[in-house]
Amino acid sequence: MKKWPRVWAEVDLSAISHNLAVIRNRLRGRRRIMLVLKADAYGHGAIAVARHVLARGEAQAFGVGDSEEALELRQAGVDAPILILGAIVDGEMKEVIQHDVAVCVHSRSRVRLLEREARRQGRKCRVHVMVDTGMGRLGPFPETALEVARAVAASEWLELEGIATHFSSTQSADDSFTRQQLVRFSEFRKSVQEAGIPLPICHAANSGAVLFEEQSAFDLVRVGAAVYGIFARRDGDASQLRPSLSLHTQVIYLKDVPSGTPISYNRLFTTRRKTRIATLPIGYNDGLSYGLSNRGHVLIRGKQAPIVGAVSMDYCMVDVGEVPGARAGDPVTVIGADGTESITVPQMAEMLHTVPYEITCRLGRRVKRVHLPARKHPSLAAAVGPREEQVLAAERVAEH
Ligand SMILES: Cc1ncc(COP(=O)(O)O)c(C=O)c1O
Repeated sequence: MKKWPRVWAEVDLSAISHNLAVIRNRLRGRRRIMLVLKADAYGHGAIAVARHVLARGEAQAFGVGDSEEALELRQAGVDAPILILGAIVDGEMKEVIQHDVAVCVHSRSRVRLLEREARRQGRKCRVHVMVDTGMGRLGPFPETALEVARAVAASEWLELEGIATHFSSTQSADDSFTRQQLVRFSEFRKSVQEAGIPLPICHAANSGAVLFEEQSAFDLVRVGAAVYGIFARRDGDASQLRPSLSLHTQVIYLKDVPSGTPISYNRLFTTRRKTRIATLPIGYNDGLSYGLSNRGHVLIRGKQAPIVGAVSMDYCMVDVGEVPGARAGDPVTVIGADGTESITVPQMAEMLHTVPYEITCRLGRRVKRVHLPARKHPSLAAAVGPREEQVLAAERVAEH
């Protein structure tokens, strides 16, 4: 009998490579790719993912959420450019400068503090100015952002490495707001130029923008969801993306029960017939949302088994009355495919009225990440994507 872990997530690194090739293909190889590794690479395991894409030259930089994530990558030997996309707090400044991690700034007061710390260390700090063009989260509006950019550019201890903005609505099929943001960012970029500030790297696009808003790519794109294959839209080039994560557990206990048997906390479910109940060692601490209590299902032996009763911290129960031959030790698919059945991250998110990001980010510490190795030598198509491959083929023909 196979010895499955208690709960494990399989991360298919070749799917990550494939999705990056889809993105590269859209960018026609001309822009740099910053892979967003926030939240442990959206639950996929940041270090393993970073090493994989770096070894294959599939991304040129990484975006993270805070200094801890950045330093973890540095400690793992990742020496590619890293940018903290969010706001750093005062206590984080020393180490990010020490380890040459670039930061986004959102105010003049932050610029002054960073400058002071950089001077103290005698080490320049790379800075990206984030302008708010409609996200309403971090960063000043364009006028103030220009002042911030001016202050950074004028500082002896800061290097204005980039200007950036973040789109709020690229998951929607209605792109009118994204276009407004794009116009505002382009105007900001122009104002930086007109102010005589040497234009740094400009970046704005997230997954949705790369996939659906060609003009948004500028010099670099910051992508996460599309690379992990959890982007909810499936039209256009998004239809080529492959899911990269599946979630599994195993049947730990089975019991035949009569009709009228209450299941789990607060008796949210009572059997209405004689059936067989399987207990699975996965609960909300592992990322299986309490919201799936009495909703949703898992896959066992290629069949759907409905989740019954409340999901608890470490366990949930499923009805395997319709899964012939189910046994203790059977592997269970919570996300992913089993035979002709499948459960995707976007489907689960829809059921829970949330976004796909939350599903994978919430996978707990106990979930063992198993990174499936990609093939050592990718096919040409996987490595460069179909459009680039056509160009290469044309060049080869031209050479003969
Ligand atoms: C500032 C910033 N840029 C880029 C991204 C990547 O977005 P996506 O995962 O939709 O590609 C994020 C993710 O939340 C972000 O916060």
